[in-house]
Amino acid sequence: MLDIGGKCAVITGGAQGIGAATARVLADEGARVVIADINYETAQSLVKSLGGDSAAVRIDVTDSSSVRSVVEQVADQFGGIDIWVNNAGIAEDSLALDLTDEVWQRTLSVDLTGTFYGAREAARHMCERGSGSIINVSSIAAFRASRPEHHVAYDVSKAGVAHMAKILAAEWAPRGVRINAVAPGYTNTELLRSVGSASPAIMEQWLSQVPQQRLIEPDEIGRVIAFLGSDASSSVTGQVILADAGFTSW
Ligand code: NAI
Repeated sequence: MLDIGGKCAVITGGAQGIGAATARVLADEGARVVIADINYETAQSLVKSLGGDSAAVRIDVTDSSSVRSVVEQVADQFGGIDIWVNNAGIAEDSLALDLTDEVWQRTLSVDLTGTFYGAREAARHMCERGSGSIINVSSIAAFRASRPEHHVAYDVSKAGVAHMAKILAAEWAPRGVRINAVAPGYTNTELLRSVGSASPAIMEQWLSQVPQQRLIEPDEIGRVIAFLGSDASSSVTGQVILADAGFTSW
């Protein structure tokens, strides 16, 4: 239905969680998927289970030369990149008053700077080809302060990657390149479990704010990303799609 058979899609942070689920959705639709992750071993095992024309590559999104070399390597090997998903992300809990410079810098470097490096390097390649779709993974944290956890560095980064999509969409639209963001709500992944420290009280507090009263499964986010990557969304650019089980609806 999405007509993405044969397209090449790169997913940063694709070894697990939302990224891995997105890889499966795209591969099931016939795309050739490249899992780009700092955790190369897990990325490789995922590729084995995906089968088809998929590949794993090591990337550190905080290092622009690593991102650039992945773009060059994949473009070379697959004949071009059609879809690039800036999904890699980290979160660490700390009150702002106790937040160290190191945690602030580390979080911004992966979540905000890493997303910009991915978008810029992918777009340099895509603008030259005259087509492509980039998807930034934002969060409901871009719209509301995370609670009860304390995530100022994460929350501002996620607001930044949502706004980044709007700014870059205007710059790149005349070159045939689209960029959008998806903002997931509470999604059932390792990141969420570690943040909630598997605490039933925190989980209950989260779910009490979600009209659908459930966690989102990672493949539900993967399907939104696949839509944004495909020509089914050809007129959509500079948008943030909330996939949050209703969290921001009230
Ligand atoms: P996860 O922790 O399960 O996966 C994150 C992946 O990013 C891992 O495979 C990790 O190895 C990779 N990664 C970390 N640092 C990297 C780096 N420097 N370079 C390359 N790869 C790196 O996380 P999850 O939950 O799947 O999250 C994926 C994205 O979705 C993140 O951007 C997260 O902020 C966002 N998100 C998640 C939500 C949730 O409830 N799970 C809600 C809203 C947004």
